[in-house]
Amino acid sequence: MKYIFANWKMHLGIRESVALARAVMQTLRGEDDMPQVVIFPSFTVLNDVRKVMARSRMKLGAQNCGTEKKGAFTGEVSAHMLEDVGCQYALVGHSERRIIFSETNEIVAKRYKTVLLESKITPVLCVGETLVERQADNAQGYVSEQIVSVFNGVRIPRQKEVFIAYEPVWAIGASQPASVADVVSMHSFIKELVKKLTDVADNRIHILYGGSIDAKNVYAFLREKQVDGVLVGGASLKVKDFELIVKSATDVITAQEL
Ligand code: PGA
Repeated sequence: MKYIFANWKMHLGIRESVALARAVMQTLRGEDDMPQVVIFPSFTVLNDVRKVMARSRMKLGAQNCGTEKKGAFTGEVSAHMLEDVGCQYALVGHSERRIIFSETNEIVAKRYKTVLLESKITPVLCVGETLVERQADNAQGYVSEQIVSVFNGVRIPRQKEVFIAYEPVWAIGASQPASVADVVSMHSFIKELVKKLTDVADNRIHILYGGSIDAKNVYAFLREKQVDGVLVGGASLKVKDFELIVKSATDVITAQEL
């Protein structure tokens, strides 16, 4: 299986989100060998998008999740609330959360554990080095710290799978993605590390790449067996581009009989 995750960030209101969800659904109709498509809209439109997608094979995800189960936490949205509105996935630790909103590894770990252990939702941990770390030849060290802080001492429940989105900060919303070779090597590194930390089997660990994925470059990533899917920002807001991205995934699935 290949996964196509669409991160709509803070771009669309209700009308635009519903229209985009409808348009995306239309383009997927009738496709066999489909990748698993998950849409991550803003909190305020989750319910409307859920209704639109109700009879499709697409799934719904949230862009973040509260650290606590319930209580006086103004502005937070809990895992139960997200479950209630139909989310099956939640991003945790996106670099925009880490950098703009100062979320530390500790906060991210708390969010991850809350989603993992207190709800039926699958958390998607986002990791990735900054340009400074890459230039200092410390990309693996940096990503390793982000991963260890989340998985150290955590038992992954049997019914859950591990999803990690590797998104180098310098490649997000940029003119170019990371190189396929660098991504493959980082994905292999991440998988080994997660296996060591959690004892989870290979086929329950999924590593996605994110950062300037578009209709033209996506195939080169998806055809690599180390790349289980992609997390797409900008290009997921354009129906035509997103359709081509899904089509590339379908081509890979058909060619490789996944
Ligand atoms: P981008 O964003 O595809 O626009 O680079 C990816 C992300 O931030 O998840």
